[in-house]
Amino acid sequence: MVIQEKVVQPLRVGLGERSYEIFVGRNLSGDIRRMVESLRESNRRIVVLADEQLATLQPTFLTDAFGDCPRLELPSGETTKSLEKLGLVLDFLADSKLDRSACVFVVGGGVTGDLGGFAAASFLRGIDFIQVPTTLLAMVDSSVGGKTGINLSAGKNLVGAFHQPRAVFADVDLLASLSPREFAAGMAEVIKYGLLGDRELYERLLKSEAFTATSPEIGDIIKRCCQNKARIVEGDERETDSGVGGRALLNLGHTFAHAIEAVAGYGEYLHGEAVAIGMVCALRLSEKLEFLELGNGPDLEALLGRQGLPTVLRAPLALKPLLNAMHSDKKVKGGMLRFVVMDAVGVSRVAEDVPLSLVEDTWRTIGAS
Ligand SMILES: NC(=O)c1ccc[n+]([C@@H]2O[C@H](COP(=O)([O-])OP(=O)(O)OC[C@H]3O[C@@H](n4cnc5c(N)ncnc54)[C@H](O)[C@@H]3O)[C@@H](O)[C@H]2O)c1
Repeated sequence: MVIQEKVVQPLRVGLGERSYEIFVGRNLSGDIRRMVESLRESNRRIVVLADEQLATLQPTFLTDAFGDCPRLELPSGETTKSLEKLGLVLDFLADSKLDRSACVFVVGGGVTGDLGGFAAASFLRGIDFIQVPTTLLAMVDSSVGGKTGINLSAGKNLVGAFHQPRAVFADVDLLASLSPREFAAGMAEVIKYGLLGDRELYERLLKSEAFTATSPEIGDIIKRCCQNKARIVEGDERETDSGVGGRALLNLGHTFAHAIEAVAGYGEYLHGEAVAIGMVCALRLSEKLEFLELGNGPDLEALLGRQGLPTVLRAPLALKPLLNAMHSDKKVKGGMLRFVVMDAVGVSRVAEDVPLSLVEDTWRTIGAS
């Protein structure tokens, strides 16, 4: 897909015929509009799926970028990643009389992106979609890489498809209306990239004040994270490689985080907040396994705390349900729990043979009872 006038130098995700560009910059509504017009000129129908809260807070952006394109607004929140809302979106696509040449723009955070991407993956067995992430988490993580999906009552992201977007437009100006809590949750994923494979980024974060939506460096940080994600996805698009550099490494802290989210009740902890505690667990587990030298931890808790993120549970959660939730996580392989562990800051790998007693001890260090 070609964009005519580029105001920003795009990053590229190199996946053969599924390759695409990521545009990170400010005030991108004009660039998006040019793409919309060029698609329409080739007789392709365009529809927009947008997060309801974003639509309320940034109406001018949507009008400038999409004009009169048909638009469906989706309620905010994790419960929108449901079979019911998937049905609503698919009906909207059908009612909009889309054919296989159509393109769906998905504008919102990870929830809208995951649901909208999955709808695009399944409608007419797959049509094009373009991600317009509007949260920090979506800009640095969920909009890149082609994982789409919804939740079932049995667990998060249990239904989905790999379906790469045709382009990603991350307009940093949109972060201005994001709540500080949601912004901080996105920073958890930024810190994750540093810990799992980018020591330079991690050290830069350590030396910086807390980031906010107006930090001059934030665009640069987002690009760096997208570059990291792009390289990992290029090496292991479908998460089949559990070795060094595989996509599974992006799950650093996530086996713990998903259990926290499930046991505390979805919504109690934002995903990024649970990931923050999960990364502390991953660090502790790495120390217990003697991969990482004890007491030589990479100042993770101070960094997370400075960014307003939790490092322990806000209220104790019972150990047993946390362990049960870990076992039903889709990352479990052949009944074995798998963890991303660290050998050093910026050097991580997947460990499969972790003794349960160490996992239990790890949970206790962050307040499980
Ligand atoms: N596909 C992937 O690779 C991947 C990776 C990580 C996370 N995820 C998924 O992403 C989801 C979390 O994403 P999220 O944190 O973006 O949550 P989200 O989509 O729920 O957005 C968070 C909140 O911010 C609001 N919002 C969005 N943009 C805004 C803006 N610019 N200004 C003001 N408010 C705005 C939303 O209405 C919502 O209330 C989870 O479902 C998680 O499973 C997917």
